[in-house]
Amino acid sequence: MHKTAQYSKAAPRQRTLDQDLRSDKEEISPNQKPEDSIHRRDFIKRTGLAFAGVAAASTFLPSVRRGMAAGTNPTEITFSSAKFFGKETIAEVVDAYNSSQNKIHVTYKELPPPSSSTEVHQGLVQQLARRNGDPDVFTQDIIWIAEFAAAKWALPLDEHFNAEVMKEYFPGVVQACTWQGKLTALPWFIDSGMLYYRKDLLDELGAKAPETWGELIDSAKKLISAGKAKFGFLWQAKQAEVLVCDLVSFVGSNGGSILGPDGKTVSIADDAAVEAVQLMHDLIKKDQITPEDVLSWDEEPSRGPFTGGEAAYLRNWSYVWKISQDKANSSVVDKVGVVPLPHFPNKKSAACLGGYQYGVNASSKNKEAAIEFVRWMSSPETQLRFATQIGLCPTRSAVLDDPKIAQEQPFMQQLKPVFIGAIGRPVTPKYPQVTLVLQSEVSRALTSGNVKAALQTAKDKIQAIVKT
Ligand code: GLC
Repeated sequence: MHKTAQYSKAAPRQRTLDQDLRSDKEEISPNQKPEDSIHRRDFIKRTGLAFAGVAAASTFLPSVRRGMAAGTNPTEITFSSAKFFGKETIAEVVDAYNSSQNKIHVTYKELPPPSSSTEVHQGLVQQLARRNGDPDVFTQDIIWIAEFAAAKWALPLDEHFNAEVMKEYFPGVVQACTWQGKLTALPWFIDSGMLYYRKDLLDELGAKAPETWGELIDSAKKLISAGKAKFGFLWQAKQAEVLVCDLVSFVGSNGGSILGPDGKTVSIADDAAVEAVQLMHDLIKKDQITPEDVLSWDEEPSRGPFTGGEAAYLRNWSYVWKISQDKANSSVVDKVGVVPLPHFPNKKSAACLGGYQYGVNASSKNKEAAIEFVRWMSSPETQLRFATQIGLCPTRSAVLDDPKIAQEQPFMQQLKPVFIGAIGRPVTPKYPQVTLVLQSEVSRALTSGNVKAALQTAKDKIQAIVKT
């Protein structure tokens, strides 16, 4: 979904209204009558092409809008989002919205990719704190919803999306979009950490996909010593948000947690968490199935060697599937399986809940238009488009069951229970401070090996943050 292209493709095009109007003049064919455009637009609406035939439709939709928009004054709104892309860019999806109607025109402002979580967060906070209504609509990582709601930057949406409508979405995501009883975000997509493995290599060993960490370590060691894999297990330990995502799944796979459901009881120095972080350390230093390089790797650097055929296992998000099956970018096409992450003996697998959700700026001067736009962005048709074109897992149950997803992203349906059972990171308006403590103390634990002491420090610092 969001991460390959940032390394391999030019930045997506962003249109401003000005450019739009300018290119209208340049591109309208002298032979084209406005009626032609109207007919084409009606045809698209009737056939559903605007949503379904994405590749074909998006190339001619802009000209359709131009015909319709002539002489009208659409309401202008702005939309900020972290950069995600696969076969399409967000800019192209926004173009399609602009072309699908003539009442609202959205200008897309691109933020850095989601792996630069801290930068995206800072960018948004700076914009929202001005309370000047710009951007009208934004997307937010699931971990910022409480903060943005508590600061009253996000408009409560309950009166526009009632409980009946919200039943169409997975309950866990609706819960994550709700702060103190108010719906302050509208679901976009869910993400979840999962284990990618080399089917061919495990077949050679006569092994099945591992269910426990012990099984993963054994098979990885065998594959490395037989010279079949350069790396055993790749994951992400860079001092960044993704380290906390990995932490959640390691700790959860031993029945532990970071912060209790009351948002006040800090459990990161409990035995279950200490054992889990010790395992993270040992994978690198003792078992040596994870290279030291992961200490500076986030999602993409860890994905590269796996799709390059050098690693037996990879923990990553759903975006990796499409890349792994793409001959142009992968040497492991048809050799990859995806399963839930392993767990400690007699414990359960745990996946970290990720994903971005829509927010409407409480200071927006065009709230109605903003709400219309998020309604379209979160609609079944657009969610299907995001799933098949950008690899973003739908938050609507019915969309996830769509046969087109079985075709394009088969693991999404296979791992439905993983997606909907994923564990959240701590829910607190102070999350930005909590995550920085976790990132630095867990990094310290991994490099120093002094796990217990680092986690005790993390606990003390987090306790001081959440008690206020
Ligand atoms: C993914 C997840 C997001 C997480 C980020 C960390 O984009 O969807 O929730 O914070 O990765 O890198």
